[in-house]
Amino acid sequence: MSSIRIGLIGLGTVGTGVARILIENAELMRRQTGHTLELRHVVVGDTAKARQIELAPGLIRGDIEALIADTECRIAVLLVGGLEPARSIALRLLTAGKDLITANKALLAEHGTELFEAARLHGRSIAFEASVAGGIPIITNMSQCLSANQLSGLSGILNGTTNFILTCMDEKGQDYGVALKEAQHLGYAEADPTMDVDGSDAAQKLAILAHLGFGARAYWKDIPRLGIDCLSPLDIAFARELGCRIKLIASARLDQGSLALGVSPALVRLGSPLAEVRQAFNAVALHGDAVGQLFYQGQGAGEKPTASAVVADIVDTVVGRAQITFNLLQLWSENRPAVPLADLSQTKSRFYIRLTVADNPGVLAVITGILGAHLISIASFLQKEPADSPGGPVTLVMMTHVASQAAANAAIKAIDQLPITSARSLCLPVMD
Ligand code: NDP
Ligand code: HSE
Repeated sequence: MSSIRIGLIGLGTVGTGVARILIENAELMRRQTGHTLELRHVVVGDTAKARQIELAPGLIRGDIEALIADTECRIAVLLVGGLEPARSIALRLLTAGKDLITANKALLAEHGTELFEAARLHGRSIAFEASVAGGIPIITNMSQCLSANQLSGLSGILNGTTNFILTCMDEKGQDYGVALKEAQHLGYAEADPTMDVDGSDAAQKLAILAHLGFGARAYWKDIPRLGIDCLSPLDIAFARELGCRIKLIASARLDQGSLALGVSPALVRLGSPLAEVRQAFNAVALHGDAVGQLFYQGQGAGEKPTASAVVADIVDTVVGRAQITFNLLQLWSENRPAVPLADLSQTKSRFYIRLTVADNPGVLAVITGILGAHLISIASFLQKEPADSPGGPVTLVMMTHVASQAAANAAIKAIDQLPITSARSLCLPVMD
């Protein structure tokens, strides 16, 4: 049985998981591929760092030169986060004739066109199952298993860190900062967790899924996004009172040929499948015209679940499946007709609105007047009497009937300019 050499660049959370699976499940890998998978090169940033895994002496190096020079090693697994040096390393690996596997969604969302062109130019493939939703095989499903379907919509919880934080705040009343630290400790968060909490990471993943599922070449920075950093513990409590949970939802809706993309915290009804996705789990709900409604759920971050997807890509690359898919899909290629992006502000939903206003006579009339002028009708209303009432600031929460995002934005803008408003208002969609 011949041996296939694997080069691993990055031995952090995910890289360690990949190395572990390759070692612990070596026999299974042999059965899956018909070859012995040999971890031949491991490249890290800091060779002096203590590792969570014991590898053969001399295996770990501080640069990629030996891997580049090894023409018998044709599979490289890039598990370095961020844009640089990840981009330069990826280009060097492709140029050197290696098939690439990566979990780096930021890299794909930012430099996908350049990398996929380089892969095509050098006759190589790029596999990226772990880049979206960790252990859920959503890339393979959307690019292969659902090829008979015209997808019409997708709603996903695509960031494990934020789902973990929201779960800790909701179930344990934990402080946001404490929960974020725990997510970092557990290896869920990006090196800079700003990308997790401000919705950027979910937008990057949504851009990848929009590309695969809808043929939309969306630049992730053009996707309207709001993160969980705008939430207060009050929102979690009010949402509960309204029979909902707050989740960071990435959504894609195809309507009359154009696609609306967005990332925002949203209220989801308790008992609905998305509301029950807890901890660092991710989920993707989607609808295809032939298959109907589908719901995928699984661990979206962390060592082993993410490594599970990476190793599946290694197997697919070893047996040649990844290359076939890569060539057929023409990813990030100008050859694929693009789907126009819709204006998200024209989408409609119910809204959760939280205002902080003076607790004085006539204030409510002013607020409802503004909402009414924007054709927004109030479905329910909550106000808790604060200790320093009347006169002091009070929190008002409203659930609206269905309205357009544009109307909600305009109303909130007007309310935030009023002298009676003492803190920025929050407006979140409600998923019915
Ligand atoms: P870590 O920060 O844990 O690990 C990054 C690794 O990259 C480290 O081993 C680091 O070396 C190495 N590295 C940094 N610079 C270089 C360099 N110039 N040359 C070689 N190696 C270098 O990241 P993760 O494992 O968490 O994530 C890796 C990728 O996977 C990221 O793109 C991330 O977005 C993605 N991902 C992560 C998930 C997760 O749950 N963590 C889930 C899905 C995707 P050293 O150890 O010496 O510092
Ligand atoms: N930081 C990412 C998350 C890792 O929390 O979802 C998985 O992509």
